[in-house]
Amino acid sequence: MSAGQPSFFERLVAWQRACGRHDLPWQGTRDPYRVWLSEIMLQQTQVATVRRYYEAFLARFADVQALARAPLDEVLAAWSGLGYYRRARLLHAAARQVVERLGGRFPHDFDGWRALPGVGDSTAAAIAAFCHGQPVSILDGNVRRVLQRWSGAAGAEATPRALWRRAQALLPPQPPAEAMAAYTQGLMDLGATVCTPRQPRCPACPLRADCAAHAGAAPLASAPPRRA
Ligand code: ADE
Repeated sequence: MSAGQPSFFERLVAWQRACGRHDLPWQGTRDPYRVWLSEIMLQQTQVATVRRYYEAFLARFADVQALARAPLDEVLAAWSGLGYYRRARLLHAAARQVVERLGGRFPHDFDGWRALPGVGDSTAAAIAAFCHGQPVSILDGNVRRVLQRWSGAAGAEATPRALWRRAQALLPPQPPAEAMAAYTQGLMDLGATVCTPRQPRCPACPLRADCAAHAGAAPLASAPPRRA
């Protein structure tokens, strides 16, 4: 961070609060059941579709106990329309684990979430940030693109692992939980609404002042990521 310039983290938090999305039905809660369900649905399904199924699923299975008790075929029926049914099977298996092995209590950190069926690195990081304010970075496709453009990373620096290390280094050691949640949502929102694969809206970006792609130093300024 240069003197006087807010950090990457601070700029994204401020931008999310002012310009990010605030009307998604899974926002504004730290309830682990609601957050976990939304992140599993959002793994392979677009926000607009998840919006249509999320509340109905919650109305049918109000909590993790109800989900664990339900026969698998009822869970699959409630999932229909979202596709990729493997996620529903893993969700159901995870609900049973939480009830049977964890006494009905959800994990409270990244490692605990990562150990549940169906929860990969980025999903565990998102849940840990939203529910517990834990400083672990998400790294889905959108976030990789944002980081790659901003940092100008190429070659060995642009592997998912290297980008994740870079993402992790951008986090303050002990951010307030609210800020960590806003930051995580901000990364997602920026990738979805500003730093889009084609024709990014750079004038609206809070990171443009020191963005390598915007400065023309990286090959991704306006084109989608290309295969080597
Ligand atoms: N994609 C994955 N998680 C998301 C979230 N919480 N909000 C919007 N898009 C997402």
